Order: sequence, then C-alpha cells, then structure tokens
Amino acid sequence: MSAKTRTPGPIGIFDSGVGGLTVMRAIRKLLPGEDLVYLGDTARTPYGSKAGETVVRFTRECVSHLRQYRIKALVVACNTASAYTLPMLHRSFKIPILGVIQPGGQAALEKANSGPIGVIGTQATIRSQAYPVTIRKIKPQAVVYSQACPLLVPLVEEGWLNGPIPLSVIKTYLAPMLRKNIRSLILGCTHYPALKPALRKVCGRRVQIIDSAEEVAKALRSVLEAKGLLKPGSRRGRQVFLVSDVPAQFVRVGATLWGRKLEQVKRVSL
Ligand code: DGL
Repeated sequence: MSAKTRTPGPIGIFDSGVGGLTVMRAIRKLLPGEDLVYLGDTARTPYGSKAGETVVRFTRECVSHLRQYRIKALVVACNTASAYTLPMLHRSFKIPILGVIQPGGQAALEKANSGPIGVIGTQATIRSQAYPVTIRKIKPQAVVYSQACPLLVPLVEEGWLNGPIPLSVIKTYLAPMLRKNIRSLILGCTHYPALKPALRKVCGRRVQIIDSAEEVAKALRSVLEAKGLLKPGSRRGRQVFLVSDVPAQFVRVGATLWGRKLEQVKRVSL
C-alpha cells in the first residue's frame, strides 16, 4: 500500500500514539478484507494532557497526512482527539469520519440498565465533558460520574498491566464512582482495554465494562455498508502502521494491544 494507491482506498485510523491499536484490532476482526492504514502521532503523544486547541492542530496535521493514502473513511481511534476535533474534521474532510465517543456512550446506556454510568479517561477528555454531553443527548436524565486517570496511560506504556501497583492506582481512581454504584464503566481512553483484567478485579461482576473498540468497528461496518464502500472480494486486507517518531517503543507496546508482532511500521514526518 503506498500513498499513490488508487480506489478503493484503505480505511484510515488515527491515534495520538499506540492506544488506537485496540480499535484497529476490533476493526480488523470485523472487516478482515479491508486495507487499513494506521497513524500514531508518537512524536507528540500524549494528547491527554494538552490544551484542546493543540489537540485540534495536531489532529488536522495527522489527518492531512493520512489523506495522501486516499483513505475512503477515517476512524479517530483516540478519545481525546474525538472529544475535541470531530466538528472540525467533518467540516474539513468529505469522507465518513467516526469517533469513539458516540458508540461508547450509546453502549454504556444500553448496558447500564438505567443505573449510573462511570467514565474514565485522560484529563483532556474528562475536562471536555464529551461523554456526559453525548450520553445526556440520548437520555437527558442519565447519571454520569467522570474521573480523569492520568497514571493509567504510563502504566500501559510500561507494560504494568496487573499486580499490586496498577490495582492500587485503579482502586484509588474508581473508589468514588464505585461508592455511587455505577452499573457500567466506559473505558474512555484507547489504552485502557489493556488494563481490563485489573479493572474487572476492582469493579467486580456487577459493573459492565464498555470498551468502545467493538462498538466503533460495528458502527464503521454499518456506515461503509450504507455508503456502498465495503471492499468487494475475499482477499485478506493489508495493513501499514505509520508513526511520527522512532518506532521502537510503538513496536514494543503495540504488540500487546494489536495481539501479535507489528510489521510494516514506517516513520513519517508530518
Ligand atoms: N489515545 C489517547 C486517548 O484515547 C490516550 C493517550 C494520550 O493521552 O494521548 O485519549
């Protein structure tokens, strides 16, 4: 797959770094024939501690780069970028564009069974109020508790996914919302699915954990179907991974999130 590829183009998937691979993995599972091109802005990650306007600027540059691949649709596989950039992206690029917040919010409402909903994410995502606003647009009386968890991304990046330290950090962050008896918990950051076993231990069985990756993949399939953009034929899809910094850390951490060794990783300048 090269930047000169002619139609049908690949699906572009964008994240601030490595976390969006959890979304790409769900897309690959549901749409095995599609060509995928992933861009992780590893030179400038994390986005979660940055100002909204910085996230908008970085995202615009990344999506412009992905457009060189003639992408037929874009998935913003980053909660922070989804929280701040979707209106700008819809105005600027005339292809189907999906974020992770709407599908995750919808699934949380369905699974919460009218009970309170918890949302965890980066500081920027929580500050944006994107989840409570989206959920209350669907169900105005929904009760939503939010918590920024800035230590969780570094834990995933270091591969500390279980054991006393991640468990104690997660317990401290979740204690207030667990006392409010939340019924579903949205993993509002694409790194967090890697911590699912530890989160499950802390939450117990009563809380439904919502990983928006699968919901996004389903929403993407519906949009491509509706627009006649699904790739015909039975050939297995290809994938390339683009990063904006040296690939070593991306390759190391990404293997856990993608589920196997990452091949075809290329460094690009934005
Ligand atoms: N991928 C980001 C998200 O889902 C987390 C990492 C970051 O802060 O850039 O919000």
